[in-house]
Amino acid sequence: MQVVVLNGVNLDVLGRRDPRLYGGLSLNELETRIYEWAHELRLTVRCRQTNSEGEYIGWIHDAHADADGVIVNPGAWTHYSYAIHDALELLEIPIVEVHLSNIEQREEWRRHSVIAHLAARRILGKGPDGYREALEFLAGRS
Ligand code: DQA
Repeated sequence: MQVVVLNGVNLDVLGRRDPRLYGGLSLNELETRIYEWAHELRLTVRCRQTNSEGEYIGWIHDAHADADGVIVNPGAWTHYSYAIHDALELLEIPIVEVHLSNIEQREEWRRHSVIAHLAARRILGKGPDGYREALEFLAGRS
């Protein structure tokens, strides 16, 4: 099973963001863990991160042909990007929405996710382990 993990805007500076909200790992350390967990679960995974919304949307389009499941953390785009919503809506593979922090217990504007209803599973506020849970969910479906 081929899985893509798409981290969006500002997730490249994870190590510098509030560790109480996002955990203390850098993006590189997080991706290393994701690759290890995927290996244990016998999944093939590819992690990508960008601060460009257009590039992110291109990778969602690519997942249509390349992947059996997608894990998305679009960062702040989660709360307002109908363009990312529309790209995800075209996918016929399971989508897992992951957020390191619990967006439902933070500022009002973060509580709404425009992609929530497209997700087969949402994992909020579990830090890096949320990605492990997302991989386990997809592995269970294969
Ligand atoms: C985030 C939550 C978003 O509200 C925020 O803008 C992020 C990270 C998370 O993983 O908790 O950049 O998606």
